[in-house]
Amino acid sequence: KILILDFGSQYTQLIARRVREAHVYCELHPFDMDLQAIRAFEPSGIILSGGPKSVYEEGAPVVEEALFELGVPVLGICYGMQLMSRHFGGRVVPAGKREYGHANLMPCGTPGPLFNDFFVEGKSPVWMSHGDHVEAVPAGFEVVGYSDNAPVCAIQNVERNLYGVQFHPEVNHTPRGEQLLDTFVRQVCGCTGQWTPGHIIEDAVNRIREQVGRERVILGLSGGVDSSVAAALIQRAIGDQLVCVFVDNGLLRLDEGDQVMRTFAQNMGVNVIRVNAQDRFMTALEGVEDPERKRKIIGNLFVEIFEEESVRIEDATWLAQGTIYPDVIESAGAKTGKAHNIKSHHNVGGLPEHMKLKLLEPLRELFKDEVRAIGEELGLPHQMVYRHPFPGPGLGVRILGEVKKEYADILRRADAIYIEELYRTGHYDKISQAFAVFLPVRSVGVMGDGRTYEYVIALRAVETRDFMTAGWYPLPYAEMAHISGRIINEVKGVNRVVYDISSKPPATIEWE
Ligand code: XMP
Repeated sequence: KILILDFGSQYTQLIARRVREAHVYCELHPFDMDLQAIRAFEPSGIILSGGPKSVYEEGAPVVEEALFELGVPVLGICYGMQLMSRHFGGRVVPAGKREYGHANLMPCGTPGPLFNDFFVEGKSPVWMSHGDHVEAVPAGFEVVGYSDNAPVCAIQNVERNLYGVQFHPEVNHTPRGEQLLDTFVRQVCGCTGQWTPGHIIEDAVNRIREQVGRERVILGLSGGVDSSVAAALIQRAIGDQLVCVFVDNGLLRLDEGDQVMRTFAQNMGVNVIRVNAQDRFMTALEGVEDPERKRKIIGNLFVEIFEEESVRIEDATWLAQGTIYPDVIESAGAKTGKAHNIKSHHNVGGLPEHMKLKLLEPLRELFKDEVRAIGEELGLPHQMVYRHPFPGPGLGVRILGEVKKEYADILRRADAIYIEELYRTGHYDKISQAFAVFLPVRSVGVMGDGRTYEYVIALRAVETRDFMTAGWYPLPYAEMAHISGRIINEVKGVNRVVYDISSKPPATIEWE
């Protein structure tokens, strides 16, 4: 397994994903992880990430000096390479100008095990993002790559298995980067690449059995990817000891409740209790217009209902949750107080302390792509596993202002047509998130010979990597026209459809 030490680069998670894609297990930890913990982790190799600081700055982040003496291969990326160079007596200086973007890496010297394939075609395009560079290489190291801008872009000390690159092999803009990381973890570090979906499942199943024993587990099933995969995995491990509670809050997509029951209860034999709480939610939301209040009401009522159900499940001692790795990573960014992608909204929020349940989180170490892969391997339908994210409060935040059943019914049907068309035309998988929004305003229209005075549906589709920033998706006019026509013709109560062309920021993805 590989240890990645994070110095705060925006790309650190990508390094971890590339290593996992090479089917090698890795973990990401803050740069100041202590030596004892590093030793206990028993890494086969260590990767030092990039970071925003300069190594010669006062208070720049450093690693435990002895890290380089562990006899474990180390790859330093950007800041990581500069740190390694400085540690061994090289010189790091500010670059004349910041280098950002494409560059060509030219080979020199003898490439060695890591760079052999990287230079098979001579020069190799890379992605740069740095303000400093290494000017003088430390003793014992040789330069194997340079660019027009920086004399030292790739260094190695083959004897000691220490490598450094100034560019970013983890980003897609470095075409041979993925392969470089693959070579590092498999050939230089000797990892065997057993981290495959089958293996992940087997490993998780064993661990769940060991942890849980004969006890019972409850899980709040939402129909979303993470809770679904968690349910399928735990069911595989302990069968009937798992009881899922699925709360239908009346704010789900068209037929979603029935689909969830069909997939889990009927097809997979999972123990699911469906709670039809539509009326309770509608009543609780009556007269409430403020989005944050709606969120609170929906969240609290969910917890209340979930608790009512779970106390009825005798001797349940575990609560399972579909927490995934990006939710738990403690990054260097978080340590230095820099902005950090922690999602503040969770589908299954904090349950009351007094329930005293032990937490079971079998997906804690997995990235979303891995969760999806094991979901499919466990037999979940492809469409469920690759579905766009859906917010916990559901249609509650897609019906602007007061929520009414009538509005929810209209929205559900419009949304279903929209999504169906996106699937049919092949746009669905290119979009990160798409949905319809109900606007409780009425506009005048004409249908047949009559005047209409009906509601407006807004369509939203965005492309994004991390949901922190997003661009609106350029759906072709012909598709828009077709979707709009279908919605207006097929959904009673709607006579106007608009397409949202706002990016985030300054808009957000959801309308509330
Ligand atoms: P915004 O609207 O903040 O959305 O740009 C970013 C992502 O978060 C989702 N979202 C939520 N998810 N509970 C959730 O579980 C919520 O209250 C919530 N609000 C927004 C949104 O769907 C998008 O994927």
